Amino acid sequence: ARTVNVGLIGLGTVGGGVARLIERHRDEYLKAYGIDLRLKKASALEPGRAAELGIAPENFTTDWHDVVADPDIDIVIELIGGDHPATEIFEAALTSGKHMVSANKALLGRHVERLAKLAAEHGVQIRCEASAGGGIPIVNALEHALVGNEILTVAGILNGTTNYILTRMASEGLDFAEVLADAQRLGYAEADPTADVDGFDAASKVAILSSIAFHTRVTTDDVFQEGIRNVSAADIAQAKSLGYVVKLLGIARNTADGVDVRVHPTMIPADHMLASVSGAMNAVYVVGDAVGETMFYGAGAGSFPTASAVVGDVLALADAISHNDKVQAEIEPYQRVLPLRPID
Ligand code: HSE
Repeated sequence: ARTVNVGLIGLGTVGGGVARLIERHRDEYLKAYGIDLRLKKASALEPGRAAELGIAPENFTTDWHDVVADPDIDIVIELIGGDHPATEIFEAALTSGKHMVSANKALLGRHVERLAKLAAEHGVQIRCEASAGGGIPIVNALEHALVGNEILTVAGILNGTTNYILTRMASEGLDFAEVLADAQRLGYAEADPTADVDGFDAASKVAILSSIAFHTRVTTDDVFQEGIRNVSAADIAQAKSLGYVVKLLGIARNTADGVDVRVHPTMIPADHMLASVSGAMNAVYVVGDAVGETMFYGAGAGSFPTASAVVGDVLALADAISHNDKVQAEIEPYQRVLPLRPID
């Protein structure tokens, strides 16, 4: 068996789930893949997390530098989110020849091109399945399973908070502000829900998915963004009377004029697959020229669903490392094979 050592930075909701899933499946990875996957070092600001998760004290640190500096570590998982020190973690890990797995949609949505170049220079890879659609294996689908297609459309419900709000507005006739307060009380929405309700979170995710689907580089700033603050219960009722459901969609289309990427409240025919996605769930509708219509559905957030995507990336990297394969870049510095349409 080949030992693959993993470093985990961040032991919050998702990081905790990753530690638990790796422990739960270790024997199986050994038997089925010949990989001894070890959580060599984990870091969190809160020292009590190690004991809660059953991580031995010698494998725990409160300083992320210790994880990145460990020469035995092959793969670094970054699950702290935000810009800093996540950027420094990426730069330090990639520069020292470690593969990265991350769910950091805000960082990757903006800076993936630069980070992907850095990874390529050091012969390592960034994998980001968990950064869009949580546990839904949509990055793998676009990157691998659907390569026999020219992708024509990617349209997703990529933010659970706004889908929860719109669902309750529709079913109970409530206004945006009332449901937002409930969503915050129930812990769905952040205390500062701006990134969710104004479309920034969905824009980061659709930027990542469209970059992969269309082999071009879309950053969050290229995405037209309109959130759901101005959607009223009356708008939703009106749409319903016409046979439509209102959803916040991230839409990326391959048009004659280039790739068009946008996030905005959208009227969807009530019989469309996306119209039935309710509550905090996510879904991604993909149309390819060979496969036709496909739909991927699942939990877009949460501890185990998001950890499921992270662990899938870790095992794929570990498998490639253990076979001494050249690790194929999931996110690579693409040529812009398709032009971007300016935001209108
Ligand atoms: N705030 C995000 C959502 C969490 O509501 O979907 C998952 O990225």
